[in-house]
Amino acid sequence: MSQRWTPESWRGKPAQQMPDYPDRNALAAVETQLASFPPLVFAGEARSLKKALARVANGEAFLLQGGDCAESFAEHGANNIRDFFRVFLQMAVVLTYSGGSPVVKVGRIAGQFAKPRSSPTEKRDGQELPSYRGDIVNGIEFTPEARVPDPRRQIEAYRQSAATLNLLRAFAHGGYANLASVHQWMLGFVKDSPQSRRYMELADRISEALDFMRACGLDLESHPELRATDLYTSHEALLLGFEEAMTRIDSTSGDWYDTSGHMLWIGDRTRQPDHAHVEFCRGIKNPIGLKCGPSLKADELLRLIDILNPDNEPGRLTLIGRFGSEKVGEFLPALVRATKREGRKVVWSCDPMHGNTITSANGYKTRPFDRILSEVRDFFAVHTAEGSYAGGVHLEMTGQNVTECTGGARAITDADLNDRYHTFCDPRLNAEQSIELAFLVAELLKKERAAHAKPLPAAAGL
Ligand code: TRP
Ligand code: MN
Repeated sequence: MSQRWTPESWRGKPAQQMPDYPDRNALAAVETQLASFPPLVFAGEARSLKKALARVANGEAFLLQGGDCAESFAEHGANNIRDFFRVFLQMAVVLTYSGGSPVVKVGRIAGQFAKPRSSPTEKRDGQELPSYRGDIVNGIEFTPEARVPDPRRQIEAYRQSAATLNLLRAFAHGGYANLASVHQWMLGFVKDSPQSRRYMELADRISEALDFMRACGLDLESHPELRATDLYTSHEALLLGFEEAMTRIDSTSGDWYDTSGHMLWIGDRTRQPDHAHVEFCRGIKNPIGLKCGPSLKADELLRLIDILNPDNEPGRLTLIGRFGSEKVGEFLPALVRATKREGRKVVWSCDPMHGNTITSANGYKTRPFDRILSEVRDFFAVHTAEGSYAGGVHLEMTGQNVTECTGGARAITDADLNDRYHTFCDPRLNAEQSIELAFLVAELLKKERAAHAKPLPAAAGL
């Protein structure tokens, strides 16, 4: 891959999953307009995330990545954002405390609008229309008008991302994320759940630890790291015209950054080494994710790593496995071994959602909680066996009390799916299931990190 890269060099390559815009002029006008808009994120922030991910690659931190499958225009509101952020903080605090590891927090948010689809069209009652490709492309309503790709939606997605990011930054740095508020994040949560009791116990322990440090004479007010956190944003780099328009030269480094989000990932359906999505992502300096499914062979993975991370920079590349609970044990080890053998510095993350989607008896697209859990367990087991690090998880989740995935402590059944099935695309873990999963991941993480721990040096004359 020696040809020169430019933000538009992807246009000369075949591209999967791109919408067919009927009005090319309108599309070009929107892209020009977007290119004149301010960046959503800054290059320096993307570099900080890369540094944090380099620590994950070295087994010194854990990556928590999650959010909606697809954000929507209709559900854009402060409550939704706050509820997501709150549950995400709760998960992070569980992992930090019980897992004993710093947690790198990356939301699938403030830009996660475009969706790859298994079929370009959808049929209902004999009518065939273009598939819904996410609110940034077309409307979800099954009408000919709604399904026409409309470029003006990209402007709307940009504005929504800016507003979302603005609130997230305020929450992360303006006091909401203060560890002294660890109990408050529980407010408004479903009462009497086993998860809420478990969480409150952990919150009590954190408060005690803070009180203890204060009693020992530590001035907690002088430690800003207790009062704030960093939440990074990420989405799939699917709609390349939009991503190109948001790609700018960073004046301090002279490098290109895609300023639509801190981290961008390449989907399992668009990772062909000689196609447009890989071409676009190779040239931007953001941290990049690559979804790895069962069809990815080890030699193809190494080729993709050569293209996407030629300098073997730790933190640049996160490999996000999405195999399915029955396949992860079969397919992941070969990929891990190949990267180890070739000395490639990568973060290994586990997406236990996309390989575990089934249709319920009553016709809902769902994911059984026990399969999600089983994929995460096997992911940890593979890394323990291979001597590599289980670096993180990538989840589709919401702060709302939805019924989209079956199982969990509250044992949601197929029949319950009908109650609150709200997703615009794939089924998400609800708030309770998310926290339950965080506790389970924390246990696995604690065990793994203990197994990797180097023995303490002999005490020197104490
Ligand atoms: N700044 C630290 C961190 O982000 C500690 C912290 C502050 C924290 N608020 C938090 C951790 C909320 C988890 C959740 O890790
Ligand atoms: Mn999805």
